Amino acid sequence: MKKHWTLRLALAATALALSPAAQAQADERAFVKENMEFAAGQYRRMVADAPAGKAVMPHCLDARGRLVRVPVYSWTAGFFPGTLWYLADYLDDSVLADSARSYTLRMEPTKNYTGNHDVGFMMYCSYGNALRFGPQRDDEDVLTTSARTLCKRFDERVGAIKSWNSFRSWHGDSTYTYPVIIDNMMNLELLFHAARTTGDEDIRRVAVSHAEKTMRWQVRPDGSCFHVVYYDPATGAFIKGETAQGYADNSTWSRGQAWGIYGFTMVYRETGDKRFLETAQRMADFYVNHPALPSDGVAFWDFDAYRPGFVPGKRSGANRVVTDYRDASAAACTASALLELSTVAENGSAARYREAAVRILHSLASPAYRAGEGKNGNFILRHSVGSIPHGSEIDVPLTYADYYFVEALWRYDRLLAGKPLF
Ligand code: GLY
Repeated sequence: MKKHWTLRLALAATALALSPAAQAQADERAFVKENMEFAAGQYRRMVADAPAGKAVMPHCLDARGRLVRVPVYSWTAGFFPGTLWYLADYLDDSVLADSARSYTLRMEPTKNYTGNHDVGFMMYCSYGNALRFGPQRDDEDVLTTSARTLCKRFDERVGAIKSWNSFRSWHGDSTYTYPVIIDNMMNLELLFHAARTTGDEDIRRVAVSHAEKTMRWQVRPDGSCFHVVYYDPATGAFIKGETAQGYADNSTWSRGQAWGIYGFTMVYRETGDKRFLETAQRMADFYVNHPALPSDGVAFWDFDAYRPGFVPGKRSGANRVVTDYRDASAAACTASALLELSTVAENGSAARYREAAVRILHSLASPAYRAGEGKNGNFILRHSVGSIPHGSEIDVPLTYADYYFVEALWRYDRLLAGKPLF
């Protein structure tokens, strides 16, 4: 009994001894820890319910709350192993690391997949994190092969990687054969990595060219972006900007904005070129300062949905949805990006970005978004949107919302501990 009281007094004395700043830091690290432990519990249960067969990666819940799994060629397949890697590293948990490795190995055939531009998402979130947190002999080779595969979708005349093989406009008037989407910025991280490790300047040139072309044509002067831009495959000329997953051609799809903030921040990290930093900050400012951003920092699925002057194409499912849903995935990705941006930002913006990121993280960790323990199909977050125009995955949990939430928590803890992010 006496020992018990002695311990409590000692702990109280330690608490009293902390300065307000140190106490705030300790509280925030405890906040991260609680969320990481919760997330690990959810993901351990998901692993325990592991599916057999070809569609192996958890992806989302359907409208009836059943787990949807995808094959390793889906754009989202790398997120589940990636989240396991972050959790394993943070918690120093070898069982989680074994699970992460086992799911990562399933991704290996994807290194040769040329069907879309998403091989960067798929392979860098899985094998890229494997290399960081539990490297094995073949990881680097798999990443190099994946990067060379992605480069096959680059056309010299256009100077950009082709995102999809074609896209039929929601207006129904045309099908475009060289669509590039803002999401594609995320795939460049794989290329920069492979260029660095192999010394292959061609891979780096592809990544820089794509980023420059996107900066020139996809990002608007106010820092928002088109979701899709069509190029003329014969000349490389810009045809026009439209949307695939946003509300209208001239609107700003929130997750696209998140991909842009994250993508240009990462390209600045890799190149040191201030034009990319300026673009990242302009895109971040658009999100953070937007009058339609709710006070919890979690954006609606599109910044402009239902506003005058914004009209969906006649074929778009956005015409049939009347609820203005939030998108936790956009917020989680933005939080992660803003944390990195806060380490390099200029013009006195660093603190603003960090505060915005922390606000988002606390919102996502609240019961408004975070699942109950063992609920939500064991996903971590609720309330994300896949694609309203396609009528799919509306107000559901998604693996990539969880991935960027956990990544952002991991990054936040590093910053609180005074450690570098990379
Ligand atoms: N990259 C596809 C999406 O963000 O939905």
